[in-house]
Amino acid sequence: DWIMGDYIEEAVAAIRKQVGDEEVILGLSGGVDSSVAAALIHRAIGDKLTCVFVDHGLLRLNEGDMVMDMFVGKLHAHVIRVDASDLFLGKLAGVSEPEAKRKIIGGLFVDVFKEQAAKLKAGDGGHKGATFLAQGTIYPDVIESGGAKSKKAVTIKSHHNVGGLPEQLGLKLLEPLRELFKDEVRELGVALGLPHDMVYRHPFPGPGLGVRILGEVKKEYADLLRRADAIFIEELHNFTDEATGKSWYALTSQAFTVFLPVKSVGVMGDGRTYDYVVALRAVQTSDFMTADWAELPYALLKKVSGRIINEVRGINRVTYDVSSKPPATIEWE
Ligand code: XMP
Repeated sequence: DWIMGDYIEEAVAAIRKQVGDEEVILGLSGGVDSSVAAALIHRAIGDKLTCVFVDHGLLRLNEGDMVMDMFVGKLHAHVIRVDASDLFLGKLAGVSEPEAKRKIIGGLFVDVFKEQAAKLKAGDGGHKGATFLAQGTIYPDVIESGGAKSKKAVTIKSHHNVGGLPEQLGLKLLEPLRELFKDEVRELGVALGLPHDMVYRHPFPGPGLGVRILGEVKKEYADLLRRADAIFIEELHNFTDEATGKSWYALTSQAFTVFLPVKSVGVMGDGRTYDYVVALRAVQTSDFMTADWAELPYALLKKVSGRIINEVRGINRVTYDVSSKPPATIEWE
């Protein structure tokens, strides 16, 4: 609408004023905030923005290609895609403790991003060198990092955040979404032409499938999990609730599949199978601090389990997680 149109014009003018004729780097994750920040900054300064998209090999099915199709194919933005999956999977080999996995993934992520940023800062191929680092920080992040929340006595899970990166890289910070709430960021994304599905996506943790494969992460497990999870998400979009007319994807706050590295016995045709197990997880929550497991329709669960077992060879059992938070957490690790 026109109000959002006015907002975009103002924000674009402010970014142009702040950046001048300098260049900007942004870490694109495929998540809502960095995507909207990238689209807005690209609208303002075009090719003076370079996005760095680090693929750690723990993304969802086709996610990397979808990000590239959108930002390069449709928006014609300059994106460097770094395929670091071998590096990440190599360093994760033999590691099964969740916080240890988070530390490795978060640390490597920063290393890979820094390496790219240093190159971009130096400048090459028609680029004179970046002086700004853009981040998709939104208003709730600003409050959280300054507020009492960060002083929690016990850290249950260490979320990897990239605080302090601009200083370490000697870059100035550009944060065009700092004053916006999540729903405003989403509206802005739609107004900038990002697809509805990208802008209304459930949150996805930084360590990605790394914390959705219990214990040691292996490529074989990640490949099975990606396919199973894609089926679950597809059917959540397909099934609508008659009372509200909304899809079950829209009616849940977060939904995903967890890979359990244990084998169970099954029967298929005349044969015995001995394959892996997955758990489906879907929750409803307003703040992610507490959450209820979602009462998904049996027909949806039946469809998903049938499809996963038939289509993903290597998985022969599907379970549904009926634990609320607390005492369970949303993710299994
Ligand atoms: P839990 O599992 O703690 O999750 O109930 C609450 C929310 O946080 C997300 N989460 C993470 N996000 N890095 C992230 O960026 C992480 O390491 C991480 N661990 C959990 C989780 O997906 C949920 O939205």
